[in-house]
Amino acid sequence: MKESPAYAVEAPTFNYTVVRQFALMTVVWGIVGMAVGVLIAAQLIWPQLNFDIPWLSYGRLRPLHTNAVIFAFGGSALFATSYYVVQRTCQARLFCGRLAAFTFWGWQAVIVAAAITLPLGYTSSKEYAELEWPIDILITLVWVAYAVVFFGTIMKRRARHIYVANWFFGSYILTIALLHIFNNIEMPVSLWKSYSAYAGVQDAMVQWWYGHNAVGFFLTTSFLGMMYYFVPKQAGRPIYSYRLSIVHFWALAFTYMWAGPHHLLYTSLPDWTQSLGMAFSLILLAPSWGGMINGIMTLQGAWHRLRTDPILKFLVTALSFYGMSTFEGSMMSIRTVNALSHYTDWTVGHVHSGALGWVAMITFGSLYYMIPRLYGRERMHSVAAMELHFWVATIGVVLYIAAMWIAGVQQGLMWRDTAPDGTLVYSFAEELKTRLPFYLIRLMGGLLYLAGICIMAWNVWMTVRGARAVDPAIPPERPHTDVRRPEPAPAIA
Ligand code: HEM
Ligand code: HEM
Repeated sequence: MKESPAYAVEAPTFNYTVVRQFALMTVVWGIVGMAVGVLIAAQLIWPQLNFDIPWLSYGRLRPLHTNAVIFAFGGSALFATSYYVVQRTCQARLFCGRLAAFTFWGWQAVIVAAAITLPLGYTSSKEYAELEWPIDILITLVWVAYAVVFFGTIMKRRARHIYVANWFFGSYILTIALLHIFNNIEMPVSLWKSYSAYAGVQDAMVQWWYGHNAVGFFLTTSFLGMMYYFVPKQAGRPIYSYRLSIVHFWALAFTYMWAGPHHLLYTSLPDWTQSLGMAFSLILLAPSWGGMINGIMTLQGAWHRLRTDPILKFLVTALSFYGMSTFEGSMMSIRTVNALSHYTDWTVGHVHSGALGWVAMITFGSLYYMIPRLYGRERMHSVAAMELHFWVATIGVVLYIAAMWIAGVQQGLMWRDTAPDGTLVYSFAEELKTRLPFYLIRLMGGLLYLAGICIMAWNVWMTVRGARAVDPAIPPERPHTDVRRPEPAPAIA
């Protein structure tokens, strides 16, 4: 009898290729963006560091820094983690691998275009949306592809439940699409110049509706998606309260949208709009802290691991900074407080306690968790280097923000100080001089923070060098992927 041919049935695998690419580029762009941050911090002390070269001038490098750290570093981290988490929790391979590859190359093209055009001085002059219209169109295409890949994967999921991290990632993808399109409605007058469709106070309003929600969804909601997956995984515990995570999600998504006017207090924006922004910013504290508490309490029963586990240290410190910067933000939204803080370095301190303390720290923790798994390694090459990175980064961020707080409050107080005859006590130059020592401390903090990510780059290189990057098989279908208490162990894949 003739033997029947043996057919090899290939087990379906996760698509880790695109995750690996984005994860590595996160580290690369982190170094670039932070190095530019260090350079502009130095320029604020020694302006001659622009060497009289226009494309090295502060005004051009500052948006390069913000775009590089937010969209190149933060964006790549979000693509990497959302693609990883959606596959693991849905027990399904990424929908349409080619489109996923397009999102990687398309996003890198956007970043390179930004890195060329911003120093050349091409800008639409909208903060955090400086890129000119041809790049805006490319961003839109990449983002639509991202949405198709992400939601396509959710549609073909094999797990019944849509884990909460995916809700956070999903809402960020949808909201950023909306914000990007409406904020960038503009009239091109040449290939590299366009004018906004809005004018005057409407333009400012749309700009800060976008700007604040870019903070809310690009720098917060999405990174909370990371938190809801990597904290329980690394702690080896289910999320403290699944119910709270759902309340957290809806409350945050609803409230953030209304808070934008706190960037425009004491402007020609109608008074009631400013009050509305302030009220919603105060309300925002509740869901923000609900989320922070939910993350931190997940460590219940695993606190002792903080002593020895640098990944948990990164994740928990990130949550603490999240709590701190959201508390600070709500306070800064109160008109009388904002009267002091606005236009001062206090705002820059607030930004970086969120950016370095929350966004970058949660990213480092998540990457340290993910990278060995992406490359079939048991752990990162050096745990000691991770520990060192943690301490260097923590000291760096504390130096940065403490210096900016002191400089900022002093700045605000000196500006408003008036003599009995109504004249100003201090000239602007007098006040500026008092800021220099704090700018030096900020520079030191920035250098430490940059050193930390360079240590990470070495550790990542040593971990992935020579590794055989094989995509793992998707585990057999499980009847129900649930993460709610009182499950004894985390059941998220
Ligand atoms: C080594 C680390 C970093 C250094 C030394 C640094 C330095 C700076 C400096 C000097 C400025 C300009 C401040 C001013 O105009 O007065 C700035 C602005 C800014 N940076 Fe950074 N930065 C770093 C990392 C980051 C990261 C990781 C993020 C985001 C994830 C970030 C987000 C921003 C934003 C949003 C602004 C604009 C702030 C505003 O308009 O108030 N930075 N940074
Ligand atoms: C409850 C949450 C938060 C509230 C209510 C809030 C509120 C505020 C307020 C009032 C300002 C100053 C506006 C001004 O005077 O010009 C501000 C600036 C800023 N915040 Fe927050 N904040 C929150 C959380 C965060 C977090 C977590 C981050 C970062 C991850 C962040 C990033 C920023 C940035 C980048 C700016 C500077 C925008 C600019 O002027 O360029 N905020 N925020």
